[in-house]
Amino acid sequence: MTHTDEIKSLKAENRNLKSRIKELEKTEIELKKTERELIKNEKKFRDLVDLLPQTVYEMDLQGNFKFTNKYGIQSFGYTQEDIKKGVNFLQLFVSAERKRVRTNIQSILEGGSTIGNEYTSLRKDGTTFQSLFYTNPIMQNDEAIGLRGVVIDITDRKKAESDLKESRDQLRSLASHLQTVREEERLIMAREIHDELGQALTALKMDLIWMQKRITPEQKEQLNKVHTMSQLVDSTIQTVRRISTELRPGLIDDLGLQAAMEWYCGEFQNRTGIKCNLDLDEEEHPFEQDRVIAVFRIFQEALTNVARHADAKNVFVSLHFNSETLSMEIKDNGMGITEEQIFSQKSLGLVGLRERVNPWGGTVIISGIKNMGTTVKVILPIQDGKE
Ligand SMILES: Nc1ncnc2c1ncn2[C@@H]1O[C@H](COP(=O)(O)OP(=O)(O)OP(=O)(O)O)[C@@H](O)[C@H]1O
Ligand SMILES: [Mg+2]
Repeated sequence: MTHTDEIKSLKAENRNLKSRIKELEKTEIELKKTERELIKNEKKFRDLVDLLPQTVYEMDLQGNFKFTNKYGIQSFGYTQEDIKKGVNFLQLFVSAERKRVRTNIQSILEGGSTIGNEYTSLRKDGTTFQSLFYTNPIMQNDEAIGLRGVVIDITDRKKAESDLKESRDQLRSLASHLQTVREEERLIMAREIHDELGQALTALKMDLIWMQKRITPEQKEQLNKVHTMSQLVDSTIQTVRRISTELRPGLIDDLGLQAAMEWYCGEFQNRTGIKCNLDLDEEEHPFEQDRVIAVFRIFQEALTNVARHADAKNVFVSLHFNSETLSMEIKDNGMGITEEQIFSQKSLGLVGLRERVNPWGGTVIISGIKNMGTTVKVILPIQDGKE
């Protein structure tokens, strides 16, 4: 290579280097710009996270906090200083919860469900609150390097839930108490009507017979009067019997549930013209009177609904026992109840049906098929399902 050629090549190299330097300078400017953008974005993200009225956090695999938003620090009663000095995740829970927290974290790291977990959380000052933790693993090159999540304070929600449950329980006990009182009153009224009125009427009837015997055949007018009075007393005795039996079918107490159902079915058929078909297990059952009455009242109310609403020709009633449950079904072949009617708050009769067996953990399921009929199914456990 000649001297001139060498100079030429050096100059070319110099040019190349200069342009490389320019390129590098440009790249550096771009990198700086990107870095500024990143810092800006990071700040924006932190500001937003600090605005959140819920705790947001990040921690390493040992449970040391790497980041917490303002709300998180405040709600757990710590300071930034505390976090800098080191606070461990487990310190946020009452000791009884820690084992469960560890197990849940392990399961999240192993790819398990990250749906919320409820815990009793512990503040720095020792006070507690109800919390809901949503946690996700932080992944880097397919490996978990920590966890991040959100904590929601659910104390108010829990309180509202328990208040609601308490007032529902109160309503239930009130409903059940009212049923008991109503049954007791019915029983007393049935007995009073039957005994007092029944006896008075029988006495009246006997007096009329006494009078009848002492009236001469010539006293036709008096005889007729006594005769009509006697008829009126007879029909009043019948009415008194009917009223007292409707208030409390004595058959339930004397001959048991099945006999009372058979009797009521016959009455229902005569009264409504709807054929009532029974399929009853005849064996003895271990239920005390309260439950028997509840079952009978459901049966009665379901039949009343058939007569009032179903436009049915037939109703089929079955009653079976096994070692665990009593099951009863009342099925008609009428127009069929709709879902809306079943679940309507206005269907107080149906609400009453369900409440009847509630004290013993029983269930009533009502269903209907359009133009095919309605079914009321009752399941009552032999052992108490509830206290
Ligand atoms: N066997 C049935 N066939 C068709 N519809 C029914 C049947 N039973 C109930 N329903 C419908 O469901 C509604 C709610 O029944 P529910 O027993 O709660 O009230 P109700 O019979 O109208 O009044 P009550 O409070 O006097 O019982 C009824 O109004 C009726 O429309
Ligand atoms: Mg009804």
